[in-house]
Amino acid sequence: MAEPLLTNMVGVPDSWTLESYRQRGGYEPLKKALGMEREAIIEEVKKANLRGRGGAGFPCGVKWGFLPKAADVPKYLVINADEGEPGTFKDRLLMDFDPHRLVEGCIISSFALGMRATYIYIRGELFHSIRRVEEAIAEAYKAGLLGKNIQGTGWDHDMYVHPGAGAYICGEETALIESLEGKAGQPRLKPPFPAVVGLFSCPTIVNNVETIACVPAIVEKGGDWWFQQSFWYQKGLSEENEELMAHKGGGGPKLMGLSGHVKRPGIYEAPHGISLHELIFSDKYGQGLRPGATLKAVIPGGASCPVLKADEIDVGMDFDSMVKAGTMLGTACATVMDDTTCMVRVAANLAHFFHHESCGQCTPCREGTGWSARVLDDIEAGVADPRDVDLLLDICDNVEGNTICPFGDALAMSVRSYLQKFPEEFHKHIELGHCPYPKW
Ligand SMILES: Cc1cc2nc3c(=O)[nH]c(=O)nc-3n(C[C@H](O)[C@H](O)[C@H](O)COP(=O)(O)O)c2cc1C
Repeated sequence: MAEPLLTNMVGVPDSWTLESYRQRGGYEPLKKALGMEREAIIEEVKKANLRGRGGAGFPCGVKWGFLPKAADVPKYLVINADEGEPGTFKDRLLMDFDPHRLVEGCIISSFALGMRATYIYIRGELFHSIRRVEEAIAEAYKAGLLGKNIQGTGWDHDMYVHPGAGAYICGEETALIESLEGKAGQPRLKPPFPAVVGLFSCPTIVNNVETIACVPAIVEKGGDWWFQQSFWYQKGLSEENEELMAHKGGGGPKLMGLSGHVKRPGIYEAPHGISLHELIFSDKYGQGLRPGATLKAVIPGGASCPVLKADEIDVGMDFDSMVKAGTMLGTACATVMDDTTCMVRVAANLAHFFHHESCGQCTPCREGTGWSARVLDDIEAGVADPRDVDLLLDICDNVEGNTICPFGDALAMSVRSYLQKFPEEFHKHIELGHCPYPKW
């Protein structure tokens, strides 16, 4: 990939202002979009094969296609800027340093979909992001890019920032909608999906910050161009090459994160599909581990993703390759752990997080998260019974698939992966009667 696209604001003075964004070509795509047929914009997004950057990787154009065509009720775009997934810090980079890219993406997407208003739901702790996005919206109103009769098109659109209150579950799209409506953030039963019955019972599209921030470039350069920016395409993706075609879902550049025991943690823009190994070890990105450390495990894209062992990281950072490897790309923000890390403690730490954040609506999740955290604490302290390892697997099996939202599945898949990949560590704690790793 030649030029950075989602990170072209890095190092630019006052990159968050309208003036700076315009100097980088900002709002030219909007001008182009306002002259296009609405369907044609949606078609470009479909061609780009833009997959949702919030974690699930659902194709954005397909989701947009679920929106009813009838115009008898208002429709809404909701931006998921909750960014609560542990280890994830990519959306705030866009909001803090390039908020106009997000605002422009929202205006173009809303124009294409005939939305009445956009609500940007930002995690409450991200004060700085909230301020920056609010300032960008105010600038956009002043410049006639929002409000009534936008750029003489006769189309009206309003945009609001809604700070969340710091609950992880409010990142789940239907809990987010509940929270936006002023209720407790608890996921809704689906169907109906938000595209049909969403915010204020109206048709609603919920997209992640990064997903929508990709839209201006797709309009500017075209869906085909975007699709060709993936690592797999550049490796020779073609109808004849079936193996590479299996990866064709991973179009475009992607923000990827690194944290933990790497020399150079941070957010990097990389072509979808580069290997996790390259992300961690290449000079361009993570530059390897701290001196003398050996890689032990990596969580590829947030706490919900099953862990990978050191010998499993020759895998593409794209949605399909990660699923094939038994995990998920998630938010593509990887947590790197070296051989000083106790895997039982990691699993216990995650289970405590899930217990704390469970909304409590479904019994298996409400009880299972706390129960697994307590069992893991006992194993870590070396005071558990050897049968507790099986008990833990049993708890995971009883939570998974038995809850309204995928939160319970995330706990089960995550904890189970530590048990399956590092069983010897769990048994060693019980045998020794204490944790063999140094305390941090
Ligand atoms: C427990 C939970 C937390 C989530 N947190 C976020 C989040 O912080 N940000 C986000 O964009 N998506 C999050 N999601 C995914 C959203 O439900 C939804 O799939 C996403 O916002 C859709 O946008 P996209 O299609 O652009 O990825 C979460 C899902 C679950 C189950």
